[in-house]
Amino acid sequence: MMTIQEPYPDLDELLVDIGKAGHRLSQIDASEGSAGNISVYAGWHIEPRHHFPKVEELSLPVTAPELAGACFVVSGSGCRLRDILSDPTANLGVAIVNPGGETAMLYTRYRCAFERVTSEFNSHFAVHRDRIRLTGTDFHAIVHAQPMHITYLSHIALYRDPNYLNRHLLRWQPELIVNLPQGLGVVPFLVPGSDALMAATLEQLRDHRVVVWSKHGVIAGSEEATLRASDRIEYVETAARYEYLNLCAGGNAEGLSPEEIRTIAAAFGVEQNLF
Ligand code: 13P
Repeated sequence: MMTIQEPYPDLDELLVDIGKAGHRLSQIDASEGSAGNISVYAGWHIEPRHHFPKVEELSLPVTAPELAGACFVVSGSGCRLRDILSDPTANLGVAIVNPGGETAMLYTRYRCAFERVTSEFNSHFAVHRDRIRLTGTDFHAIVHAQPMHITYLSHIALYRDPNYLNRHLLRWQPELIVNLPQGLGVVPFLVPGSDALMAATLEQLRDHRVVVWSKHGVIAGSEEATLRASDRIEYVETAARYEYLNLCAGGNAEGLSPEEIRTIAAAFGVEQNLF
């Protein structure tokens, strides 16, 4: 597992990483309006008050006493991902978990662009917590976005079968099996922000780095950088676009064969069991 190394990024560098990811997702049309949200966990000391002087208490979606003192940078509900890079302190806040793990102190800027953290913070927080517990990572980024082609495919029942989805999508570029050796996970349509979506996302992100939220979008994680999570979303969306093109063009393209994909995986030392 690639992970972040010391010296750890400071808060300014984290804000730029998040901002660049938001900007790129906007460039690929994966965050119309205020669609999408981003959060990162930083397991080292961050002093938020210089950037985010306003403080209030935030109830956490699940009680996590083991995360007392942990720091999360999170996008605001209704914020545009494309605006984060040019004005990070208006669109992000920093939550530092209080002793007992039921609440956090949320640091924001005066006159920021939101009243609450993202409506998907329950899924983000539950996944961060799970990943920290399972891997001991000091860094974890989560990105939710709504790229059109992968979301479109998830409206077709066949593509909600993970085996069908992965074998059809990962055939379009040699990079895909290298970047997504576990393929995509899929959760059925579940109401945005719901406990059911949180639980299904948590389970699927244990085994996959990108998960399709059927009829809604995708969610991706990374232990390296927010940009790495958004890269994965970009790879998925590119693959979905090839698939869509092929559907529109009558399905004549072969794509990489299973044998070719196995050869690529062997050459790059990638363990996979999809092909
Ligand atoms: P927020 O603006 O609350 O983050 O919601 C956007 C979204 O994409 C919900 O899935």
